[in-house]
Amino acid sequence: MRTVYVNGHYLPESEATVSIFDRGFLMSDGVYEVTSVLDGKLIDFPGHTARLHRSLAEMDMAAPCSDDDLLAIHRELVMRNAIHDGLVYLQVTRGNPGDRDFAFPPADTPPTLVLFTQSKPGITQSPLAKTGMKVISIEDARWGRRDIKTVQLLYPSMGKMMAKKAGCDDAWMVEDGHVTEGTSNNAYIVVGNRIITRHLGNAILSGITRTAVLRFAREAQMEVEERPFTIAEAQAADEAFITSATMFVMPVVQIDGVAVGTGQPGSVVARLREIYLDESRRAAI
Ligand code: PDD
Repeated sequence: MRTVYVNGHYLPESEATVSIFDRGFLMSDGVYEVTSVLDGKLIDFPGHTARLHRSLAEMDMAAPCSDDDLLAIHRELVMRNAIHDGLVYLQVTRGNPGDRDFAFPPADTPPTLVLFTQSKPGITQSPLAKTGMKVISIEDARWGRRDIKTVQLLYPSMGKMMAKKAGCDDAWMVEDGHVTEGTSNNAYIVVGNRIITRHLGNAILSGITRTAVLRFAREAQMEVEERPFTIAEAQAADEAFITSATMFVMPVVQIDGVAVGTGQPGSVVARLREIYLDESRRAAI
């Protein structure tokens, strides 16, 4: 049985509880982070902590503890659960005001802090990296502050199910004719030596993997263009891919039934995936 962390305690998962009045449960009033673990080490932990602080600040929530404490909890859970490859999930909510009320509770209401691990042996060897993903496009019906990593994941979850129903792996969301991002990842196309991905703003989450991959791409003399693109442009591109902490760099070979490029994972994406995994492993803590 897994050991999880709840508000200062390490507990067997069956004994870990959160109040029914928790704002995360009643209002989706919480933020989260997912940090991947490779060879027992955390990938880009400082990036995830920095984004957590930004999400908390945008939600007017205080940090639950220091960054050193957060790192210690991550490491303790990885150790106690003997995670070789997998992830650590962290969630902070506005806590338990003891009742349901639309108004935020007093600022001194203690936040709820929950962390747990998921073991994913061989996570870097996913068969999808060889076959590539198929995606459908759907309308982006989420709220307007997607730059904050909140736990309001109902629409992305519904999007994932729409993709599965269509025999595909994921959905790319479209707003005003342009791709925003995948259900839980950032979206990219490759045209020649150029990587095109939507610019940062309120429409998408600033992916920690995105930041790293764009840096590695520039270092490898690829051109990076941060701008919106359409589904038609993506279908006509040479290659396409997504990035996230749990998928790393993953090729997309079909969009709405149309093959991208050769319909097979291409060399640019394969190279980016290799560089990303190598560099991330090297910098893992
Ligand atoms: N999701 N966009 C959305 C909407 C996401 O939910 C995620 C991550 C990303 C990629 O961010 P990063 O590279 O920092 O993982 C982009 C995580 C993995 C999840 O919900 O499980």
